[in-house]
Order: sequence, then structure tokens, then C-alpha cells
Amino acid sequence: DRKIRIAPSILSADFADFGREIRAIEAEGADWVHVDVMDGHFVPNLTFGPPAVKAFRPHVTTFMDVHLMIAPVDAYIEAYAEAGADMITAHVEAGPHPHRTLQAIRATGKKAGIALNPGTPLEAVDYLLDLCDMVLVMTVNPGFGGQKFIHSQIDKIARLRGMIGDRPIHIQVDGGIDPKTAPLVAKAGADVLVAGSAVFRGGSVDRQQVYGENIRAI
Ligand code: DX5
Ligand code: ZN
Repeated sequence: DRKIRIAPSILSADFADFGREIRAIEAEGADWVHVDVMDGHFVPNLTFGPPAVKAFRPHVTTFMDVHLMIAPVDAYIEAYAEAGADMITAHVEAGPHPHRTLQAIRATGKKAGIALNPGTPLEAVDYLLDLCDMVLVMTVNPGFGGQKFIHSQIDKIARLRGMIGDRPIHIQVDGGIDPKTAPLVAKAGADVLVAGSAVFRGGSVDRQQVYGENIRAI
């Protein structure tokens, strides 16, 4: 049986208190910490530059998974690597040379991921898999937390699992993951589940206890 990892997205955390938010989710069983980087160009929202990611680093004791929703992306890879990412994921749609992008990520010594938007066919990663530690199947159109899960991506996950075969490549899903959708994507073959709103909701009351309940419910 494949181990399922939960990667809370701090996009839904309290932006005034990241250190405390990261400690709370790690204390309650988060396997990875997912950081959503948005550029206001590739996606219609703006979030974290390299200095913000560097500030998160000392609080993360698990694994910092940095999802770059930026285009062009190559010029920023080194900066996010130096900021302390353990894995860097770029979008296959971010530029004409995703193969070069993955080579550049690998050259930093970090784990490399490639992400696919919901409208992008799986075939886009055919010739990239040998450079990847992870493929991220977006289950919403990227840009915002709290959107509705897109069910057509379940079939994409299952076909990707077949394409990967025995290779040690994670399948990550991101968008609309909650206690209802998590079993569907896990059954299809995903093993790293990003969840933002489903983890952080209700956190203003007693955040750590609530996050623990939310994480265990997925
Ligand atoms: C979407 C981001 C996701 C998002 C997930 O652009 O990549 O990580 O924060 O949020 P939920 O789990 O609320 O859909
Ligand atoms: Zn993400």
C-alpha cells in the first residue's frame, strides 16, 4: 500500500502568523508544508517571493514543497532553492522549455516537480518523467484556495499512475481536496494530497486542535 502524505497549503493560513501556523500543522501530523507562489501573471493572484520562503524555512521541520505558479520561471529557480525549498515544482505551461526548467531545478540539488493545469493533456509530461520526482495534477485552475474540485482530473491521475509504472515518482493533487475528494484521488493513485481550506478552516478558535481534526479527517 502506498503511503499517503498530507501537504497543507499555507495559502489558507493566517498571513500574520506563519511560524505558529507551520508549527501547529506539523505538530498535528502534516507530512509536508506546501507553499503556493503566485506572480499575478501566470495566475491572477500574488503571494510569496524568495524572502518570504526564506522566512518560513526555519519553522519547517518536515519538507518544504514550493509550487511555483510563475512565468517565466527559470530565472527564479535558484532564488527559491537558496531560500530553502526541498522540492520545486514548475508548471509545464509556464514556458516553451519545461525540460530545461526541470534540468535547472535538478542542477540546484533539489527535488523536481512538474505541474499540469486541468486543461493540459497528460501527454505533455511524456518526455519529462525521467527528470521528475513528482507530477502535480491540478484539480482546480490555479490562483485561489477554496475552489471546487474538478472531477475530470481523476481519470488523468489514474492514467498518470499507469504511465509512471515502477518509477519512484510522486503524484500530487492540489485543489478542492477535502474528506470527500481525498479518497477518490488516493484510489486513482495520488499519494501527496495538498489541502488548504480543508486544513485551516475554523482555525481562529483553537487552531492546533482544529487543524489536527481537519488533517485526520482527510
Ligand atoms: C491553487 C493552489 C492550491 C490551493 C489549494 O492555486 O495551488 O494549493 O491553495 O487550496 P484548497 O485546498 O482550498 O483548494
Ligand atoms: Zn499549490
